[in-house]
Amino acid sequence: MTEDRGSLAGRRVVVGVSGSIAAYKAVSLVRLLAERGAIVDVAMTPAATEFVTPLTFASLTHRRVVDDVMALDADSQIAHVELAEGADAIVIAPATANLLAELAAGNAGNAVTAIALASRAPLVVAPAMDAGMWTHPATQRNIETLRGFGHRVVEPEVGALASGLTGVGRLAEPDSIVEVVERLFARAGDLEGLQVVVSAGGTREPIDPVRFIGNRSSGKMGVAIAEAARDRGASVTLIAGVMSVPPPRGVSVVDASTAAAMRQAVLRSASGADVLVMAAAVADFAPKRASSSKIKRGGGDLQIDLVANPDIIAEVGEMADGTRPFLVGFAAESDELEANARSKLRDKGLDLIVGNKVGGPFDAIGSDENKVIVFGAEGELSDWPMLPKRQVAERLWDLIVDRYRKAHAPERPERPARSRRR
Ligand code: PMT
Repeated sequence: MTEDRGSLAGRRVVVGVSGSIAAYKAVSLVRLLAERGAIVDVAMTPAATEFVTPLTFASLTHRRVVDDVMALDADSQIAHVELAEGADAIVIAPATANLLAELAAGNAGNAVTAIALASRAPLVVAPAMDAGMWTHPATQRNIETLRGFGHRVVEPEVGALASGLTGVGRLAEPDSIVEVVERLFARAGDLEGLQVVVSAGGTREPIDPVRFIGNRSSGKMGVAIAEAARDRGASVTLIAGVMSVPPPRGVSVVDASTAAAMRQAVLRSASGADVLVMAAAVADFAPKRASSSKIKRGGGDLQIDLVANPDIIAEVGEMADGTRPFLVGFAAESDELEANARSKLRDKGLDLIVGNKVGGPFDAIGSDENKVIVFGAEGELSDWPMLPKRQVAERLWDLIVDRYRKAHAPERPERPARSRRR
């Protein structure tokens, strides 16, 4: 597959650095951005200058580093306002817990937060902190606030932390951050005008008023796909099963907690859709009859008859050509990933299928990351490394857009055959 990265040549990127041991990685980030042709300015919080000196960044960028919110530039203009207004993108890496809180609150007490507040350029934050700080509800609330502002978050990775412990909180690798910045430019608007339907989360099939048959799907994969589509300009409907994450803003949400409700919602929206991505974990079986009152212990065993649920995506696959959306399914497999994914692609009439592993040492369910292999009718198309689910979503949209556009490219009228010259 060709990497559809946006060109950074000539783009003005402001890198904001805050006070974390991971500040040394911002040096590689700045170097990578500059190598790709971006004009990079660096702003630093006072704490960041304790870890890396402004001189390091100035030597790499050949530009003055702004580390004082009161600083004026050579023309006596306020330096942080100049940078804020001229930026095509702002990347804050590393962003400490404190900096995230300041951004969420709209504080502007240092050069980095002042630029972020003053600018309307797209903003990417790459947090780095101790695992306890990252998972604290206050930080997670701040992250949600920043996402609500439309900022991109490059999730921290799991690994060795400055504390000596291992956990989530390590700054994402500079390569991954650059990829997100490039995507700001490459993909903005490439789904403009498309109606996209994404299903996410699991279904719960009632046994009685309090019990159900369900699964552990968190909805993270489907939500990342919906968010990425929204950010690329699509009009998105999210058909939400039971999820442990909130649905994204700016998309229409249809709640569907059972397979029957999901079928109804998907079939209703599929006919007007250009693309349907079924990332939901739909229960394949449901109790034949749900008891209307709570089943009591009877001293013995209980048998529940299960019936097969309709295969929703296969039903959409049977829609007539011209009304059927471009169809992307997921295959969640504990064994024989490739063989099972390929047969699902064929049996369900899909355009693409995304295979991921569940129930083993790595389990895609509930994880913030995923490792997927994508298959089309001609075989394996992509085998990506372990990536944050948002990046899986972006790469998947690259593939979908490419194939969808090719399939829907206006046919060129045939040229009339020229008479041969004699
Ligand atoms: O939600 P997360 O915690 O982020 O986890 C993500 C995930 C692992 C659930 C997701 O990546 C995933 O694999 N989703 C599909 C799970 C699944 O149901 O796979 P399957 O192999 O059983 O089904 C194949 C395809 O048919 C899927 O697209 C499914 O949505 C669809 N299906 C399945 C059964 C059914 N009755 N109707 C369907 O449409």
